[in-house]
Amino acid sequence: MDIHVLGIAGSLRKDSYNRALLMAASTLLPEGMTLEIADIREIPLYDGDVEAQGVPEPVYALKNRIQNADALLIVTPEYNYSIPGVLKNAIDWFSREPDPPLNGKPAAIMGASIGMFGTARSQYHLRQVGVATNMLILNTPQVFITMAKDKFDTQGVLIHEKSRNAVRDLLSSLKAWTLRLKNEHR
Ligand code: FNR
Repeated sequence: MDIHVLGIAGSLRKDSYNRALLMAASTLLPEGMTLEIADIREIPLYDGDVEAQGVPEPVYALKNRIQNADALLIVTPEYNYSIPGVLKNAIDWFSREPDPPLNGKPAAIMGASIGMFGTARSQYHLRQVGVATNMLILNTPQVFITMAKDKFDTQGVLIHEKSRNAVRDLLSSLKAWTLRLKNEHR
């Protein structure tokens, strides 16, 4: 059976480098892995009063998709040295009972920025959020796509060979990590 991965990008904009990186991942999958791409655009702002009336449909639907995936691939930009609010907001919804789907979910993270740190600071914040939500985020390899303007063409295709190989390695490691965790839960 294929490992089914759900991919989430932490940027909403059409020409997002991080969305483009997620699209690149879908062309660099190892054998036996599929990638479905989800969108967090419809997730409303977290509000405990709204939640008390019932989980909003877009949250409910995406929680189900995460639950049904074998693993997650989260591709995050860096905003002010951290993860974008839209991504944190979505994770906050996903962390809520009943059935928080991030709990025990194998995951890999990566990111692209236009600067020289390649989302490193943001990814370490995401790892911290992963501790709170008990996401099982793969430690290595770490994929920091720096100077994104030089790594993608004008159509958003990842053209930098070393970066493409780094994504390939991450996905292969995610496959091994997911299989290992599945076997441990048998
Ligand atoms: C940024 N950007 C940015 N880059 C970085 O390397 N470190 C940072 O702390 C920040 N901070 C930041 C804050 C805000 C509010 C914005 C809008 C942008 C630049 C960021 O890397 C760049 O806009 C990327 O292109 C964003 O990712 P997407 O949308 O291309 O996926």
